[in-house]
Amino acid sequence: MILIVDDDAAIRSSLTFLLKRAGFEPLAVSMPKEAIEVVRNQTPQLILMDMNYSLTTTGDEGLLLLREVKIFVPQVPVILMTAWGTISLAVQGMKAGAFDFVIKPWDNIVLLNTIKTALDLSSTMPLDPVISENKTLKSGNPAFAKIIGRNRAMTEILETVERVAPTNASVLITGESGTGKELIAEAIHLASLRSDRPFVKVNLGGISQSLFESEMFGHKKGAFTDAYSDRIGRFVMADHGTIFLDEIGDLDLGSQVKLLRVLQDRTFEVLGESTSRKVDVRVICATNRDLQEMVAEKSFREDLYYRINLIPIHLPALRERREDIPLLAEHFVREASGSNQVISEDALQWLKSLPFSGNVRELKNLVERTLIISDKNVPDKEDFQKQYSSMNTSSAIPLNGSTLEDIERQKVVEVIEKYKGNISRAASELGISRAALYRRMEKYDIHES
Ligand SMILES: Nc1ncnc2c1ncn2[C@@H]1O[C@H](COP(=O)(O)OP(=O)(O)OP(=O)(O)O)[C@@H](O)[C@H]1O
Ligand SMILES: [Mg+2]
Repeated sequence: MILIVDDDAAIRSSLTFLLKRAGFEPLAVSMPKEAIEVVRNQTPQLILMDMNYSLTTTGDEGLLLLREVKIFVPQVPVILMTAWGTISLAVQGMKAGAFDFVIKPWDNIVLLNTIKTALDLSSTMPLDPVISENKTLKSGNPAFAKIIGRNRAMTEILETVERVAPTNASVLITGESGTGKELIAEAIHLASLRSDRPFVKVNLGGISQSLFESEMFGHKKGAFTDAYSDRIGRFVMADHGTIFLDEIGDLDLGSQVKLLRVLQDRTFEVLGESTSRKVDVRVICATNRDLQEMVAEKSFREDLYYRINLIPIHLPALRERREDIPLLAEHFVREASGSNQVISEDALQWLKSLPFSGNVRELKNLVERTLIISDKNVPDKEDFQKQYSSMNTSSAIPLNGSTLEDIERQKVVEVIEKYKGNISRAASELGISRAALYRRMEKYDIHES
């Protein structure tokens, strides 16, 4: 039995009709308290519930109902229905353990697919978040051991991570290059109920449009000219785990459509296979671009944006949280030296004053390299300053007769050589995103090694 809860009679009857025709056994009620009566006495396979009830003044009956349902029948998947204007309710609902949400007016096919997926996956779904909450959380979670930061913004971020980790809600992490987006994505995975399953990272900035499908969904040998053998797609690798889609803002519009479809239906086709596959993956995306602005410019799909941005996490630049600089610097010293080696007070004060356009990554590089060159037990301000200026003065590039492009190309080559092909580091030194670096490497035909 599928329980439908909606105060609108027209919606109840059209959903009842739709579900019956699809072979389900619907039971529709109009009020949260009737719904509770039902789940007290029997266990539905799934609950499809409206979030907005206009009866009382509080407006959060949907959320209260969801919480109560999760107490009586925690294993039953709940799909929320919400209107465009109240998408924040869906966000709260996902945090409270809903399986998914659909936006009214819904598309029948999308809704039926969501229901089927929820039913398919509910048998293999991890423990219910509400139950497991006390177990995994709030106990000095080891997932956070590597994350340093005691200022207000970071504390709030870690609280959000704790709260959303055990749910299936998609998370969008934004912030400048080097602010720790990947670190936070990993922490969400580690603090989730999927932590013993794969964490699959995909850099969308590095995938060309033509390879997107085969990379993400896989292909069979012979599916196209260059398909010499079978390839396992990233979504298959990530099944039951988490997929981390880095540089999501670099995805072209064509690939955005393909991605949206998997995120909505959790269904896709392997190239060269005739049947479609279903996967259970948690999606975390990251970007250093302004997706909202891209939506306004129509270079990023609005529907995809809402799909991935259920829980937004923004990492402030390091210069906006300078009080963390000493903590981070000491952490990196301990990490690199394996001891409790300290940094002199004047060095810490000086570090706090730097602009750090490359954020935490730049600080980490600076500390690691200063430790290598310093011959003192406790590296002092002069050591840091020497290393800092050597990192920030570019070696002489002859300017005469060079075009701007020549200079750019030369600089890119130089930095890639310096970091032995480590693109993240090279990009951070150049002060651009990795995707932007990849674009320049493609433009100038430069290879990683
Ligand atoms: N709060 C933090 N505590 C400890 N280490 C951190 C913190 N934030 C970032 N780091 C370290 O800084 C480096 C850069 O972080 P990360 O790769 O997560 O950045 P990013 O935001 O993904 O950058 P990009 O946009 O360039 O990919 C990593 O080595 C990471 O471990
Ligand atoms: Mg990153």
